[in-house]
Amino acid sequence: MKAVEIKPDIFWVGATDWGVRDFHGYITQNGTTYNNYLIMDSQITLLDTVKGDFVEESIKKIKSITDLSRITNLVINHIEPDHAGGLGRVMKLIPQVTIYITERGRKGLERHFDTSQWNFKVVKNGDTLNIGTHSLLFLETPMLHWPDSMVTYVKEAKLLISQDAFGQHIASAARFDDEFTSCASLYELEDAVKDYYANILMPFGQLIKAKIADIVKAGLEIDMIAPDHGIIWRKDPGKIIQMYLDMANGKADLRVAVIYDTMWHSTERMTVPVVQGIKDEGVDCKVIKLRASPMSLAIKEFWEARGCLIGTPTLNNLMFPSVAEFLYHLGGLRPKNRIMGAFGSFGWGGGGVKEANEAIKRMGIETVEPGVQVQYRPSADDEIKCYEYAREFAKKVKEYHKKFE
Ligand code: FEO
Repeated sequence: MKAVEIKPDIFWVGATDWGVRDFHGYITQNGTTYNNYLIMDSQITLLDTVKGDFVEESIKKIKSITDLSRITNLVINHIEPDHAGGLGRVMKLIPQVTIYITERGRKGLERHFDTSQWNFKVVKNGDTLNIGTHSLLFLETPMLHWPDSMVTYVKEAKLLISQDAFGQHIASAARFDDEFTSCASLYELEDAVKDYYANILMPFGQLIKAKIADIVKAGLEIDMIAPDHGIIWRKDPGKIIQMYLDMANGKADLRVAVIYDTMWHSTERMTVPVVQGIKDEGVDCKVIKLRASPMSLAIKEFWEARGCLIGTPTLNNLMFPSVAEFLYHLGGLRPKNRIMGAFGSFGWGGGGVKEANEAIKRMGIETVEPGVQVQYRPSADDEIKCYEYAREFAKKVKEYHKKFE
């Protein structure tokens, strides 16, 4: 694919990774893109590089616009290898550039490359760089996504180059939001935004709110947001900002995600009355079987729903391993504004449901204890207990959800 002019004299020179399905453990069913940008001005400026495997694709696009020897500046917004992996190769081709980067970014690069011959200009929050007819404003965004992170605002173009923020893991021939025109595509795009936020940015909601508030306070006019993954927000950048604010403020659907696994189908059988109880209380429900689904899908479904019921068999007096893995992974994402509960089966000693409740409480999430445990196979009475517990849980979810309406 060719370079794409996204604004006068500003080009997308990135790469599309149609085939990636495992992005450091996060399942990317739709592939991704590694976006970087080139500004043609008195000082030609490249913003970011791409993943190492795709660097030649980006270089080819840059060469279609300019001779590499004419590039003056390289802005590194983020050093994670999906963006800076191609940096070593790029610096062999453009050793003359000055690299604009945060202090943490510079130190991080030293751990990845021999930077002894590279020219750095360390920038701080609010620093500017005039490159001719364009001026760049650097805004540090530590932990969005790594400590080194920053975004770059191009004032004259009203363009925010937002690095990981506002991205999506989606490979597409489209470059812009307004090219997603069919309902199916728009759904796919919004789903990709939620998936990305849930799996990467869930822990950073307060930082996101604070950084968006900083941007609003600074009065930056933004009519395009160009992230380093996925499509560029041209038609309505306010929409993605609002989506982020909503998610950071705890927005969720009035729904229960039933996330479970099963050994000999007992816990699985319990999901039937559980789902019925939730539905009869007028609450939507989505069921995810862990070993049949990618972890990142389970995380997204958890994130979209106000409530979550965990279903686990007991194995060696503990939770089933895939359930433990899910809750362990979820704990690292520091979820908030959700309510949870647990149910499951055991053979003799029990313990899985109790342990699931303990894991939920360790995350600081309210759990509706004690949940339901059944021995061996759910009897007709057990099914009634499951139904009643789920119905009671759904009532609590409705009540809890009112706080966010
Ligand atoms: Fe897309 Fe944090 O890297």
